[in-house]
Amino acid sequence: MSETRPVAVIVLAAGEGTRMKSATPKVLHPIGGRSLIHHALAAAAGTKPDNLIAVVRHERELVAGHIAGLDGLQPAPQLADQDDVKGTGRAVECGLELLDPDAGGTVVVSYGDVPLLATETMNALVDFHVCGGYGVSVLSARVADPSGYGRIVRSDDGGVDGIVEHKDASEAQRAITEINSGIYAFDLAVLRSALARVTTDNAQGEKYLTDVLALAKADGAAVAALTTDDVWQVEGANDRVQLAALGREMNRRVCEKWMRAGVTIVDPATTWISADTELAADVTLLPGVQLHGATTVETGAVIGPDTTLTSVEVGQRAEVVRTHGSLAVLGADVKVGPFAYLRPGTDLGARGKIGTFVETKNAQIGEGSKVPHLSYVGDASIGEESNIGAASVFVNYDGVAKHRTEVGSHVRTGSDNMFVAPVTVGDGAYSGAGTVIRKDVPPGALAINVAPQRNIEGWVASKRPGSPADEASRGAQDPGEGSQN
Ligand code: UD1
Ligand code: CA
Repeated sequence: MSETRPVAVIVLAAGEGTRMKSATPKVLHPIGGRSLIHHALAAAAGTKPDNLIAVVRHERELVAGHIAGLDGLQPAPQLADQDDVKGTGRAVECGLELLDPDAGGTVVVSYGDVPLLATETMNALVDFHVCGGYGVSVLSARVADPSGYGRIVRSDDGGVDGIVEHKDASEAQRAITEINSGIYAFDLAVLRSALARVTTDNAQGEKYLTDVLALAKADGAAVAALTTDDVWQVEGANDRVQLAALGREMNRRVCEKWMRAGVTIVDPATTWISADTELAADVTLLPGVQLHGATTVETGAVIGPDTTLTSVEVGQRAEVVRTHGSLAVLGADVKVGPFAYLRPGTDLGARGKIGTFVETKNAQIGEGSKVPHLSYVGDASIGEESNIGAASVFVNYDGVAKHRTEVGSHVRTGSDNMFVAPVTVGDGAYSGAGTVIRKDVPPGALAINVAPQRNIEGWVASKRPGSPADEASRGAQDPGEGSQN
């Protein structure tokens, strides 16, 4: 394998992409949680080229900045600027300027707006190219509707003569259904020599990369096409309809990959999984689950239905029901939801619970601790095996600054408590229902500050005479008829 590694992959991303009708450059539109150019560069990097080159021009600063911010690409992408001369041939020529003039070997060309092309397909093209001893190898596909594409022109013996662009093709050539995917492997010397002679003498006044094939062939180099059956892999996203179609197909492939790896996905059609999500075997995803960013889910966890997690770590056997979360860490055997909102910095220890209508933010909740109902926990830490009563609020904001609340271990707080931060509740402490905790509670203490209850007897009879409440209260006061005990 190693001697067939390409000297460079050149990813073309200088074009305008006007059909997106977007202020965002086409190659920065995302599917599967990554930009189109990120998918293209990741697939290209997988071939382990000596040089990974992106050719940029349109919205150069935005595209260059985005590429510079992509982590984990090896080798790191280099940028080549295309000049005023238009066309794919010129784009590749500009990319070649980054290579050592004495370098030789295989150069692969692909597109920044073709997101489903897989490393395996690029490697297959390189192997085909090197093993066949070709000067140029093009990846072709047979499609039902070839209009718009360059056509592969073959001679009577079946050999490839060249590529003709749709706009330059004759009627007979337009009937050809074998199209140019735009993905190629070139011998570097053959490519350099032919590109130097490509002109802009065509319907679009551009320097066509496709012209290299006929020139190389005329020079005596062997030219061949490798046909792929997987047309999705060579499909570009030119408008938002194609973007959505490619996004759905990518997701279908990602779901299939995880199912084959042992993940149960009850309804792949309503399950969306980003390219950066990692799932263990025996994870179950119920319908309506979206896993975005770098979400990870460990074995035995059940997620959904109707749950959206963005860069959340989910531990073994966790149950996460109807939840919206981001940048949170959930330990093993936790229970979350239904209807929980996990905001960044939420960290729930093993066996913990974040229950129904509970919002958490920057909150470390220790092992076995529970916040079961109707609460807000922000800027807080809670120790182990503590229970926060229903309808409690960690009052973290004084209108100017945020403050923290510290709750110890084995604490039992009553329902409807307000923790007015900064405040500390010691280990083993209790609080009564309705307490507004403004002062620190020592370990083992009971905090109560609700005023003693006062009952004004007969208030309804005197203030609301004849009302249904009055009627009801009279019935209750009369122990006679209708009362069984
Ligand atoms: C090109 C091919 C065509 C092929 C089709 C496959 C040529 C002349 N034609 O046509 O045979 O069937 O792709 O999709 O190569 N780009 C640049 N700089 C440029 C022009 C384009 O970087 O000056 C980039 C674009 O950003 C895009 C790719 O090259 O990623 C293809 O450009 P596009 O204009 O879409 O080429 P097509 O006309 O579709
Ligand atoms: Ca195109």
